[in-house]
Amino acid sequence: KTQTDDFVIDDELILKIFKPRDDFAHKGTYGKSVIVGGSYGKIGAAVLATKSALKSGSGLTFVLAPNCGYEILQNTCSEAMFIEGGEKFITQIDEIENAVYGIGPGLGTDEETEKTLLKFLENHSSPLILDADALNIISKNENGLKLIPKKSIITPHPKEFERLFGKTENSIERLNLAKTKAKELEIYIVLKDHHTQVVTPKVKVLYNITGNSGLAKGGSGDVLTGIITSLLAQKYSWEEAAILGVWLHGKAADLASEKYSKESMQATDVINEIGNVFLDLN
Ligand code: APR
Ligand code: MG
Repeated sequence: KTQTDDFVIDDELILKIFKPRDDFAHKGTYGKSVIVGGSYGKIGAAVLATKSALKSGSGLTFVLAPNCGYEILQNTCSEAMFIEGGEKFITQIDEIENAVYGIGPGLGTDEETEKTLLKFLENHSSPLILDADALNIISKNENGLKLIPKKSIITPHPKEFERLFGKTENSIERLNLAKTKAKELEIYIVLKDHHTQVVTPKVKVLYNITGNSGLAKGGSGDVLTGIITSLLAQKYSWEEAAILGVWLHGKAADLASEKYSKESMQATDVINEIGNVFLDLN
């Protein structure tokens, strides 16, 4: 008999995870999200992640970005607070108490940004969500993987996964390597793909079946980072946030594709459907 720890993320599981908002809530109830990202020419990635965090329920949302993004971010994400992290790219990452950090969208890999991120990781012990260039920076550093705080969520696409952990022959081998690494590093690995897999430190694998090829466009991943960061701020557990996050992201994309087609839908359209997914859940 084969024992399997593979699951599909279905509606039943999502309804078990989802927590309706408390009537007596105040903004403190639902935590603080901090999106860390953006660099000259890639401020849009920080905009997308920040908008997604705002649309996903976080009590307070901050965006730590370089100054060249100040006006863009203040104009497009009015509800978020801007924290200055440098001039053209990030050279400083401040600690905000009891906040959940989602780091990486549009971050860039400037040498100063690399040093800044590595120093931040050395001094930060609570779990984080790491994506995109944050993962690329970790890949380039010999001790990078060891700096990832335990229980963190990383969200690599196949290429980023390969940079982090090495080449594999096919998706089965890749999943096996992800299981080994999730266990060894005690982290959650969200292997982004057509059917994204959430791999837990206890080596459980959960397949997401929402989402569509309309997401195969720059910016889609940044939306996922914002959603997961926001769910974590709201005190969903790390496992719950990863699972609910990938499902919500895909579901919002499915609604966007029905409205605009897979061809025309944009990351911003996905963000604008997040609310309709929550309406269905409530
Ligand atoms: N079917 C379903 N989902 C898909 C499909 C598909 N065919 N293609 C992509 N997706 C989903 C993935 O599962 C993932 O959630 O879209 C998202 C794509 O994420 P990324 O690959 O990170 O894309 P992107 O938004 O462009 O990343 C932004 O960060 O990773 C870097 O190099 C990347 O500069 C880019 C930036
Ligand atoms: Mg990405």
